[in-house]
Amino acid sequence: MRTVEPDESTLVLGIETSCDETAAALVMGGYDVVSTVVASQIEIHADFGGVVPEIASRAHLEALNPVIARAVVEAGVDESRIDAVACTYGPGLIGALLVGVSAGKALALAWDVPFVGVNHLEAHLYAAFLEDPTLEFPLVVRLVSGGHTMLVEMQDHGRYRLLGETIDDAAGEAFDKVARFLDLGYPGGPAIDEAALNGDPDSVRFPRALSDDPDNLDFSFSGLKTAVMNYVRKHPDMASADIAAAFQTAVVDVLVAKTRRAAELVGAKGIVLGGGVAANSLLREELLGACATDGVRGFLPSRSMCTDNAAMIAAAGWHRLALDGPTSLDVGAFPNLKFPLADT
Ligand code: KG4
Ligand code: ZN
Repeated sequence: MRTVEPDESTLVLGIETSCDETAAALVMGGYDVVSTVVASQIEIHADFGGVVPEIASRAHLEALNPVIARAVVEAGVDESRIDAVACTYGPGLIGALLVGVSAGKALALAWDVPFVGVNHLEAHLYAAFLEDPTLEFPLVVRLVSGGHTMLVEMQDHGRYRLLGETIDDAAGEAFDKVARFLDLGYPGGPAIDEAALNGDPDSVRFPRALSDDPDNLDFSFSGLKTAVMNYVRKHPDMASADIAAAFQTAVVDVLVAKTRRAAELVGAKGIVLGGGVAANSLLREELLGACATDGVRGFLPSRSMCTDNAAMIAAAGWHRLALDGPTSLDVGAFPNLKFPLADT
């Protein structure tokens, strides 16, 4: 396999198939997005009200080659110009991951370039760097996706300390479950975001879990979800928009308060958002407001960078190639891959 020392002209193909988006992107030098293509499976899974793993794998299988081909064509480069292939190898749905990993390894072998296995959660952090490479460390990253809710101190590239995480449901999971309960549609996050625009956030005050101790940076959303369900059963005539707005406010209040506290404890130079829930309008507005009040730099990646995409995979892959070198082609897919934390 050809050796590659990543520099500003290194072109990395990113591949993402961990859940319900089939995505490919070309990123130059770790920061410059040359092309990015995302084929969403939302319509395929909407009838089922959630992602059906077997259907997701088959859809990835059909979509991946055309999506990669489009990313290469849109970049206007020849395949021979690609220096490395970076691909999500976990966490995610095993069948879905395997489609990307198999394709990524095959392409790396065929093109004789390094293969880099990328941790999907770490990649979400890189969405911010793609849009603002000048971000300075230490950063507090609020990662809120469908499967994970974490507060991470990013001390340097590849060097992270876990400050807090959810003890039960992820924030996105809570959005999806409450939306399903309220019959607002799928995926739940955007549906609640939209419904809440017409609702009164003060119509009900739902619980803010684990908020008594300001230094506790962990989260819990399972009790909130149950509180919403119990309330709706007792008040069947209450407008869904009001419930959505009150629920969203409860989630955002906790997320913002703990992120602020984390930034204060760490002495962070900035706060960034990552993961699908970072597309939430209220969270974006409230976090930017808090940053302005506290005099901390806040950076919100664009909505399309917050949700799953392959540009963030290519960017994280470039940095991992610089830090660790290529990943062995013997590597498999890891549905429960953990976030790569520092030893200290
Ligand atoms: O990061 P992501 O695209 O996939 C995972 O890696 O999990 O996150 C998907 C999650 C879903 O739970 C979805 O409902 C949520 O992000 N989401 C939102 C919004 N857009 C997507 N949640 C709240 N508000 C939004 N606007
Ligand atoms: Zn994700």
